[in-house]
Amino acid sequence: MRVLGIETSCDETGVAVYDSERGLLGDCLYSQVALHERFGGVVPELASRDHIRKTLPLIQEVLEKSDTTLQQIDGIAYTAGPGLIGALLVGASLGRSLGMSLDVPTVGVHHMEGHLLAPMLEDNPPEFPFVALLVSGGHTQLVRVDGIGRYELLGESLDDAAGEAFDKVGKMLGLAYPGGPRVAKLAELGTPGRFTFPRPMTNRPGLEFSFSGLKTFVRNTLAEEVAKQEVGKAGSVDEQTKADIAFAFEDAVVQTFVIKCRRALQQTGLKSLIIAGGVSANLRLRAGLQAMVEKEKSKLFYAKPRFCTDNGAMIAYAGCQRLLAGERDGLELNVRPRWPLSSLSPIGQSAQ
Ligand code: KG4
Ligand code: ZN
Repeated sequence: MRVLGIETSCDETGVAVYDSERGLLGDCLYSQVALHERFGGVVPELASRDHIRKTLPLIQEVLEKSDTTLQQIDGIAYTAGPGLIGALLVGASLGRSLGMSLDVPTVGVHHMEGHLLAPMLEDNPPEFPFVALLVSGGHTQLVRVDGIGRYELLGESLDDAAGEAFDKVGKMLGLAYPGGPRVAKLAELGTPGRFTFPRPMTNRPGLEFSFSGLKTFVRNTLAEEVAKQEVGKAGSVDEQTKADIAFAFEDAVVQTFVIKCRRALQQTGLKSLIIAGGVSANLRLRAGLQAMVEKEKSKLFYAKPRFCTDNGAMIAYAGCQRLLAGERDGLELNVRPRWPLSSLSPIGQSAQ
């Protein structure tokens, strides 16, 4: 079965063609980062309008790249939630109308299920069951995964998502949006040990997370350094201090995930950990978790960096699995800005 995947839940237009026999045939991505940068975050209405402009040309491009004609498409998968409602509606209405005109089935995919299954696109994919750490701009969750759609939430963030914390710290340090990759780059120049930040909620049992206290700690440290240095223009600190703060923040986030993921592996008795979502592209997070799983005689899996952040390939893959199991959209068009992952039904038993 050959499936066209469409992702438009936030500020990236992603499309891909996935073939159940031959694997991923091609993918294209258009990022709206430059459009939103001057606002310091995603402007929903601008995002929807840009998806309208970009999705169809991108579909044409990915079909050419995949050496596929529209008539060779057997099904269409689009992101149905969670995400920005206007942005979701663009992909959903386009996917649905294309499906109707081609007379092929369509299916709405859960964005986080897409992220969660992205490591399946790699050469040595994980086998069920496994523990998944989902870390994106909107979600931070530890999930026990027994199969597609068989998700048990083990713990999640009580406040900010990890990516959101990276982005806010980026803003504090004067970096452009999105801050995550930029904080990571700046941290490479940081001095280990100059600052030590708390590892939130690690000294008590449980698998919940909280990043807002850590964010406040960063803000206070920065303010103390500004007061101490009083150099250059008002309110600024030298570049080395910024790098040292970025390092300490990233280190605190990584160590928090190492502690909680070890706990989740021990608690479930499982031996495979996958990490997915934008923050799983973070190299120090990957290295920290790799060292931990080796000690736990377990294995770590993740997607290549371009499939960690939003993309069409993960939606094409997840949708293909559900379409193969016989799931299809009904007549109504539903998108869900909020949609708990644990409410999904096991593959083949549609909850649509
Ligand atoms: O999964 P994603 O592309 O979109 C959502 O579903 O939210 O994740 C985006 C998030 C942003 O907060 C971005 O700053 C963060 O992932 N991110 C990173 C890195 N690359 C992306 N955070 C830390 N280190 C990175 N290398
Ligand atoms: Zn995402």
